Amino acid sequence: MKIKVINGPNLNLLGIREIAIYGKQNYAALKQCISDYAQMHGVEVEIFQSNSEGAIVDAIQDCLGNFDAIIINPASYTHTSIAILDALKAVALPAVEVHLSDVDNREDFRKISYAGMACCQRFAGMGFDGYLRAIDFLIGQAAR
Ligand code: DQA
Repeated sequence: MKIKVINGPNLNLLGIREIAIYGKQNYAALKQCISDYAQMHGVEVEIFQSNSEGAIVDAIQDCLGNFDAIIINPASYTHTSIAILDALKAVALPAVEVHLSDVDNREDFRKISYAGMACCQRFAGMGFDGYLRAIDFLIGQAAR
């Protein structure tokens, strides 16, 4: 199975940004953690990060015919982007939404997730582990 992991704005600043919320580990550590786990489970992953909404839409579109599933943390675009929602709906691949923090127990504006409307599962508030649970979930789905 081939999974595209897509991360949105400011996630490249992990380890620097709001450490009390997002933790001390940096983006390179997140990528390593996902890659190691995927390799252990025989899954191929490609990890992408962008601070631009259009680049994220392009990355989702590029999944068509090239990947079996998507894991996406759209970061702040979660709460604003209908373009990302539409792109996920357009490619219609199994998609899992991940958030490092517990978005449902933060500011009210973080409670709305447009991207989540096109996702079949969500893991939030589990830190890096959320991405690993997303891989487990997609493996389980593929086996069904
Ligand atoms: C985030 C939560 C979003 O609300 C926030 O804008 C982010 C990161 C998370 O992983 O917890 O940038 O998606």
